[in-house]
Amino acid sequence: MPTLHSLSYKTKGKLDILHLENAFGSVDIALFGGQVLSYIPKSDGRERLWLSESAILDGSKAIRGGVPICWPWFGAHPSQTELPAHGYVRTQNWELIHASENQQGTTIELKPSSSQGAGFAGKAELSLIIHLGQELSIALHTRNLSEQSFRYNCALHSYFKVQDINHTELLGVTGQYTDKLQNNALFDTPVPYRLTQETDRVHLTTPARVEIRDKHNSIDIQHFGHDSLVVWNPWQAKSASMADMTAQGYESMLCVETAITAGQEVKAQETHVLKQVIR
Ligand code: BG6
Repeated sequence: MPTLHSLSYKTKGKLDILHLENAFGSVDIALFGGQVLSYIPKSDGRERLWLSESAILDGSKAIRGGVPICWPWFGAHPSQTELPAHGYVRTQNWELIHASENQQGTTIELKPSSSQGAGFAGKAELSLIIHLGQELSIALHTRNLSEQSFRYNCALHSYFKVQDINHTELLGVTGQYTDKLQNNALFDTPVPYRLTQETDRVHLTTPARVEIRDKHNSIDIQHFGHDSLVVWNPWQAKSASMADMTAQGYESMLCVETAITAGQEVKAQETHVLKQVIR
């Protein structure tokens, strides 16, 4: 395994974790799922990401919290409903293949054990590049290794930590969304954008930057390479019914996902990058 001053290894539950710590902040990344679980900038010492108190940390199920990688489909598979929701890389073991550090921060690259799987015919190579500097950048590179183009869907399914969802506003999202809870009917984005019930929306706009603002704090999120933004909170009843969430878990989280939901084409030998930058 690569060694660096700013990189160390630890465990959480039964999971192997990469811990990055430098002048700018600290990050925990589970090798299971290649999933960032924690990001604390040193500028204010405040955790940006939410991890469920009852997350299953033994590799038997995708981790509820942090930044799950949904790939190469988003939600249910379009034709093979027996396949896992959100694709097959969030339950794979990822490997650290590169790490470097300099005055601008620490950069690591991870790869899943395999980018191929049932339900996706493309020949792709996936890699995740995480940079901890003034901000945290998470970039998923999808490279087409074949001579035929393919399409994929995807999300950086980030769970952000908020003080109280009842006093939280999402700024920077406009236009229309489809509501997954109402047969994908189209609605206008509310102004101001606050959540008061179970919410599962695919916004068909591509804002470059949004802000989650709660009572005292805010989180700034930039998006690149996306075609939509997904906003999700299960609210109380669903939260209580989920094995890996507590009944009150919904109060302190909000998912704002940098997503591709309409099928991104990747031409032969080309690479598409989906990126989220958090500060
Ligand atoms: C969101 C979806 O992205 O993820 C929701 O829009 C889904 O429909 C949620 O319920 C959580 O998915 P999962 O598979 O992690 O429970």
